Amino acid sequence: METERFLSRLAEDFRISLPDLRGLIGHFHREMARGLAGEESSLKMIPAFVGRPTGKEKGDFLALDLGGTNLRVLAVGLNGNGNASADAVERFVIPPALMSGAGQKLFDFMADCVKIFGQNHAISARRFQDIAFTFSFPVEQLAIASGRLNGWTKGFTATGVVGCDVVRLLCNALERKDLGFIHVAALTNDTVGTLAAGSYADPACDMGVILGTGTNACYPEKIPRIHKISELAPAGDEMIINMEWGNFDKVAGNRYDQLLDDASSNPGRQRFEKMVSGMYIGELARIILVEMMAQGHLFQGAKSLAFAEAYSLTAKQMALTARGGDFFADFGLADCSAADSKIAGEICRIVSRRSARLAAAAIAAVVSWRDAALDGRHVIAGDGSLLEKYPGFQEAMQEALRELYGEQAARIIIQPVHDGSGIGAAIIAAVAGSGQAK
Ligand code: BGC
Repeated sequence: METERFLSRLAEDFRISLPDLRGLIGHFHREMARGLAGEESSLKMIPAFVGRPTGKEKGDFLALDLGGTNLRVLAVGLNGNGNASADAVERFVIPPALMSGAGQKLFDFMADCVKIFGQNHAISARRFQDIAFTFSFPVEQLAIASGRLNGWTKGFTATGVVGCDVVRLLCNALERKDLGFIHVAALTNDTVGTLAAGSYADPACDMGVILGTGTNACYPEKIPRIHKISELAPAGDEMIINMEWGNFDKVAGNRYDQLLDDASSNPGRQRFEKMVSGMYIGELARIILVEMMAQGHLFQGAKSLAFAEAYSLTAKQMALTARGGDFFADFGLADCSAADSKIAGEICRIVSRRSARLAAAAIAAVVSWRDAALDGRHVIAGDGSLLEKYPGFQEAMQEALRELYGEQAARIIIQPVHDGSGIGAAIIAAVAGSGQAK
């Protein structure tokens, strides 16, 4: 009985009702307007200095894609017919020590991976000339191929990078590794790459969303609405805006959100990301498990140190519960009862469902900002492990969109674009090369 009461209180703490969804959309719109005007806002609304591709861009490019967990190197071919393919892809796990050490080591690692990729694949010298760089952190873009890091997210704390031009840091590392002949043709956020990959193939694509280790989105904005740059840019045209929505701070968090934020490497920042993204939902579930264990709701009242380590429970493990399994064996707790599994499943369902509903509200905010009456069809290019791999996540998002828009919700189509962030960076490099970049 006590346990049931705990779980129903938990469900209430994590509930996002229909009025909450509507309220969030309003808050998003106000913060978007402030960000575009260059006023104080939790949404930075960063101009990407590029518009959407036409689908006719052609060429061969290398792409280097630094996400939150992996570094990917890709050889991308664009055929000018809306068809972009990754001819070779190699994935390198970012050693955790590099996330927090000297920044130079992190950039040297990236250059090393480019070298290894070149050696493993027969990459022509010509293709090696231009590289598109996806850097999935909040960067104040200065031009198409330069931008300063505003601050790290997703647990990174590497020194000597915040405030610096990350393209310069990459070029320096490439030079140190005798790859100084490589030219960085474009710098993009992963959301911008994903939107580019989606809209290269489908002109109805008007938003890019990442729901993975971190979360963020971008969309094409009419230049006259970007008040902070309207004097510098040509009128009438569009430019992609990287929203950096992970930092949105108008959702009231609960006790668990506060505990997570207080102990994080960036307290007070990325509050929305800390409720939604893959890196953090596991941690929220872990904090809840530890509390339930301390109160005797699990393991027949026995205590365990199994979940003591911060960030030891991952979204991937949570996803097991959605398939009817549990993750206890991974923590050396092989003989847990069916009741324990059920509780773990319920915690994961509550936390992941809130994540999906918040993500849906944020998507609805962007779609309705562009098209208040939802007259058109909107294809949203999406990438990231939650979207691609968490069972039921997309369904929970769709359910929230249906609550908001009824049948019209069918006009919002979420289209997973695998490797979109890397492939799209190559497309952006081609757009930049064709003189369409601002
Ligand atoms: C970063 C964004 C990025 C997102 C998804 C966030 O932590 O601030 O720039 O797009 O993660 O990778």
